[in-house]
Amino acid sequence: MKLNDTQKAFVEELLARMTLEEKIGQMNQESPSIVGGFDVPFSELIEMLTDGRISQEEFGRIMANAKQDYHEDDIRAGRVGSMMVNDPRKNNELQKIAVEESRLGIPLIIGFDVIHGFRSVFPIAIAEACSFDDALFEKTAHMAAAESRAHGISWNFAPMIDAARDSRWGRVSEGPGEDPLLGSRFARAKIRGLQNDRSSPLRYVAACTKHYAAYGACESGRDYNTVSMSVSNFYNVYLPAFRAAMDEGAATVMAAFNDLNGVPCTVNRWLLREVLKKELGLEGFVVSDANAIRECVAHGIAADDRDAGVQAALAGMDMDMGTHIYRDYLKAEVEKGTVPMAVIDEAVRRILSVKVWLGLFEDPYVPEALIEAYEKGLPEEHAALCRKAAEESMVLLKNEGNLLPLRRGQKISLVGRLADNVNEVCGAWAMAWKPEDCVSILTGLKEAGAEVSYFPCGGPEGEIDFEEADRACREGDVIVAVVGETDAMSGEASSKADISLPGGQRALLERLLQSGKPVAAVLMNGRPLALGWEAEHLPAILEAWHLGIRMGDAVAAALLGDVNPSGKLSSSFPSVTGQCPVYYNHPSTGRPGSRSKFTSRYLDAPWEALFPFGYGLSYTDFAYEDLRVCENGDALEITVRLKNTGEREGTEVAQLYMQDVSASLVRPVKELKDYRRVRLGPGEAEEVRFTLPKKDMGFYDNEGKYRLEDGLFRLYVGGSSRSCLMQEIRIAF
Ligand code: NOJ
Repeated sequence: MKLNDTQKAFVEELLARMTLEEKIGQMNQESPSIVGGFDVPFSELIEMLTDGRISQEEFGRIMANAKQDYHEDDIRAGRVGSMMVNDPRKNNELQKIAVEESRLGIPLIIGFDVIHGFRSVFPIAIAEACSFDDALFEKTAHMAAAESRAHGISWNFAPMIDAARDSRWGRVSEGPGEDPLLGSRFARAKIRGLQNDRSSPLRYVAACTKHYAAYGACESGRDYNTVSMSVSNFYNVYLPAFRAAMDEGAATVMAAFNDLNGVPCTVNRWLLREVLKKELGLEGFVVSDANAIRECVAHGIAADDRDAGVQAALAGMDMDMGTHIYRDYLKAEVEKGTVPMAVIDEAVRRILSVKVWLGLFEDPYVPEALIEAYEKGLPEEHAALCRKAAEESMVLLKNEGNLLPLRRGQKISLVGRLADNVNEVCGAWAMAWKPEDCVSILTGLKEAGAEVSYFPCGGPEGEIDFEEADRACREGDVIVAVVGETDAMSGEASSKADISLPGGQRALLERLLQSGKPVAAVLMNGRPLALGWEAEHLPAILEAWHLGIRMGDAVAAALLGDVNPSGKLSSSFPSVTGQCPVYYNHPSTGRPGSRSKFTSRYLDAPWEALFPFGYGLSYTDFAYEDLRVCENGDALEITVRLKNTGEREGTEVAQLYMQDVSASLVRPVKELKDYRRVRLGPGEAEEVRFTLPKKDMGFYDNEGKYRLEDGLFRLYVGGSSRSCLMQEIRIAF
C-alpha cells in the first residue's frame, strides 16, 4: 500500500481540519447493534443458540427480523470511522450519510469477515493451503475482493495467517496450517489477490492480516488462552507470515486476543510499535479484535476501561473494534495529556491513508447495476473457480488395493448425514453463501452420473441408525461414508479436547466394515482429526475438508476418477489427540523418539504424526531419483528427477526441505524451503529444479537477530516431509 505525494498531502490537509472528536471518531469501528424485535435479551439468545434450545436456522430467522441500529446519527456526527455490514444497499446508505451529511464528508471504511470467499465460498484456508498452489491462492483472493467490493465492503478481515500446530484449536481451519514458509507464501499470494488489481476501485480491497500475533500457539489449543514462547520461536515460526504480508504491502493488521509472554497483544507496545510498525514497516493501521480493548481488564492488565483504552492507544492500536472505549475516554485523556495528540494523529493518518488508497473519497458507492447483477445469480466463472479450488484441495490419505477411484457402474451406497447437507459444505466463517449455489456430495455424485443410493444413517451429532447402515451395505457394491465434523465444530470458540471422529461415527464405520463390503471414507472437517483407528481399519480415506460451494462436484469427480487428487497436507494429523501439538518441523531433541525406552516418545501412542505435513497420495505413483545439490554463487541449485511411474496423469507437489545440522540454537529436524507443483503424464519424467538463496538458510536468535551460520546442512527433496531423498553440503556464508 503506497500513497503518492498528492495523496499524502490530501491526508495531511484533512487531518489539519479535523477536531479532536472527529479524529477519535475515525478510530472507532461500529457494527449494527441489535436493539430488539424479539422477546429475550440478546445475550440469552446467544446462550439459547449455544445450548441448542434454538437451531442456527431459527437464530438466523430471528436475526433477520431483529431491529438493528446502524448508528446513523453517530456517522453523521463524525463519530464513526468504520462499519461492519455486508448488505450493499445498506452500505450505500451509510456511506451517503458519511459522505454527504457529516461535516468533513470522510467515507467509512466498511469491513467484513470475508475469510474464504464471499458468495463464492472457496475451501477453508487449511484445505486450500493443501493445494500448495500460490497462483490459486491469489485468484481466489482476487475473486473474493471483487465480490466484497460489489457489496460495499472495501476491507476484508483476511487472510488469517496464524501458524497453528495444535489441532485442538478450532481456528486451525481458518489459516494455512503449521508451516511458516507455506504460511508466508499463502500470505503473500492472498495480499496480492486482495490488493493488487488497481484497474478499478471495484477490483481491490484492503487486506487485514490477522491475528497478530502467535494466537495459534494458545496453550492447550484452548481458544483465547495464554501464549508464552521464546523470542526465537516467535520470530522463526509465528512472525514470518506477517513479515511476508508486510513485505507484500498488506494495508492493515488485526491484533490477537491472547497475551504474549504476559502482555495482551492489544496493548503490547513491543509487538505493535517496535515489531509491526518499525521493523516490519506496516504502512496502514492496526485494529483490535472484537471487544479486545475491554478484555484487557479481564486479562488483569488494565484497571478499568479507561486504563485499557489509554494503554491500547499508547501501544499503537489505531482502531477500536466495537467497545466505544476510544470514543468515550480518549478525548479527556488527550486533554489531560496522558495520551499525546501525536498518538491520535498517527492513528488517524494511517486510517485516512488506507481510505485514500482504496479510492473511497472518489468512489464511495457500489453501482446499483452491480448489485443487481449479483442478485441475478453467481457468474459461471466464479462457480468454476470454486470447483477448481475444491478439486485441488482434497488429500488422498489412504487407498489400499486402489479402491478409489470407483469404477463406473458400481452401485454406490452413500452414507452419512453430512453427504446431503448444503449447510455444511462451506465450513466456518462463511456468511454470504446462498443455498442455490451449493452442491452437496449426493447431488455431485448424481450429477456426475453415478449410480448412487443415499442412506443418511447419522452424523457428527445425534443417534446412528444401524439398521439403515445394514441396508446400505446390502444394497451397494461399495460404501462411501461421509463422516467428520459440522461446520460449527471448528472456527472461533470451537476448541476440542478430543479430536477423534465425533459422535457415533466410528461405531457407524465399524458396522459398515462388518458387512465385508469395501468402505471408503470421505472426511468433511475443519481441523486435522486423530485418525489412528480409521487409518488402521478403512481401506480408503479421502480428506475433503469443508470445500466450499462446489464441494459436491469436486468430491464426486475425485471419487469417480475424473480428478486425480493432488493435495498435500498443510498440517500433520495425529493418531490420537494426546499427541497434540504434533508438527513436522520439531526442534531436534537430545533423544529423538525411537523404540527404545529413554527417548522422546509415548508409552501408549506413536511419537510421530500419523499423516505428516506434506503427505498426500495420488491415483498414480511418483518416484524421485538422482538428487543433486551444488553451490552456485549466492544460492544452492538443487535438482531431482521426478517420474510418474503409474498409469495415469497426475500432479505431484515436490517439496524441498533443509536441516541446519549444527547451530548456536537448536534447529528443526526439517524446514520447508520451497515447493513446486509438477504435472506429469503416465511414464513421463522431469528434472525439477529449486534455487535456494543462501540468505534464506538462516534463523532468528533470541534477540530477534537473523543469523547465517556456517556448517553442515542437509537438503531433502520428496513427496512429503517424511519421505525424501537427502544430500549433505557444507556451507560458508
Ligand atoms: C473475532 C475474530 O477473532 C476475528 O477473526 C474477526 O475478524 C472479528 N471477530 C470480526 O468479526
